[in-house]
Amino acid sequence: MADAAREVVAAAMAQAGAAQPFTAYAPSNIALAKYWGKRDAARNLPLNSSLSISLNEWGSRTTVAPSASGADEVILNGDVLPGSSAFAQKVVKFADLFRGDRAIPLRVETHNTVPTAAGLASSASGFAALTKALCGSFGLPLTPAQMSMVARLGSGSAARSLWHGFVRWNRGDAVDGSDSHGVPLNGVWPEFRIAIVKVDTSPKAKSSRDGMDHTRETSPLFQAWPAQAEADCGAVERAVLDRDFVTLGEWTEGNALMMHATMQAARPSLCYLTSRTWTALERLWQMRADGLQAFATMDAGPNLKLIFLEPSTGDVLAAFPEADVVEPFAARANGS
Ligand code: DP6
Repeated sequence: MADAAREVVAAAMAQAGAAQPFTAYAPSNIALAKYWGKRDAARNLPLNSSLSISLNEWGSRTTVAPSASGADEVILNGDVLPGSSAFAQKVVKFADLFRGDRAIPLRVETHNTVPTAAGLASSASGFAALTKALCGSFGLPLTPAQMSMVARLGSGSAARSLWHGFVRWNRGDAVDGSDSHGVPLNGVWPEFRIAIVKVDTSPKAKSSRDGMDHTRETSPLFQAWPAQAEADCGAVERAVLDRDFVTLGEWTEGNALMMHATMQAARPSLCYLTSRTWTALERLWQMRADGLQAFATMDAGPNLKLIFLEPSTGDVLAAFPEADVVEPFAARANGS
């Protein structure tokens, strides 16, 4: 069956030269309107559109080069990984999308610039940076939208990590996935801030992939999710375009809590949020009752991501001193 992303890569690889060393960077991203549920697992197509903010200099920098040893080599944050590692296997499998059955041994070196302590998943920035580095290494003339489609095959959220700023991933309607890719929202919002509030560092119990399948298959609330999530994405997009922060915050937080409620109704229940998450949420809600304009979103783990505008930075840090603050539109020192 046709898969637009695989076909784009195969057609470009038919004209490709030998692999050259090439380095690419992609930022991590936080979804303000979430992706949770697939309509096609093989092409990794989502049931609903989603919208994210990229994390600027927090992301992945990946270099793809021919391997001198004649075997694939995968290096993560300076460590050469054994072929048995899950990360190495994902990288090799993704490189195979490009190589097909041709023997082209590669050296893939990735540095994650997200502080490990932030407890953020790196698959979004990782697959986006790897897609850009593979395209650069083989000299493939893919557009950013095509690269987003290809990155989507690695991890859905990677489709949004091809750009900085706000990015919408359109669910698309085409069976071959050709219209399911990221689209950047134009414009900057210099005062926009994100705080990562780490409440728990233990590894997540269930991967997003398994978690979304389990929710879809067993949660009686899931039938309400795709249409509401699509509507939420539209409302979040309008609020971003209008620079209407409070509306954006309310829809963002409502979307995240509905996603978690839907998971919690799965059988058996899927709870990524812990008592510490709820304690932090109650603190946030109390501060909001006292006038703070900050809103929370949570992904497949217990940590909170707060969104707010620059004038609230002091109050957010007073309430959550352990938080790391990201400025998504600040000038980038690393040329990324
Ligand atoms: C809760 O992109 O990790 O972070 O496509 O199966 O790799 P796969 O899933 P993934 O799921 C992300 C889920 C989320 C919400 C979001 O980022 O939109």
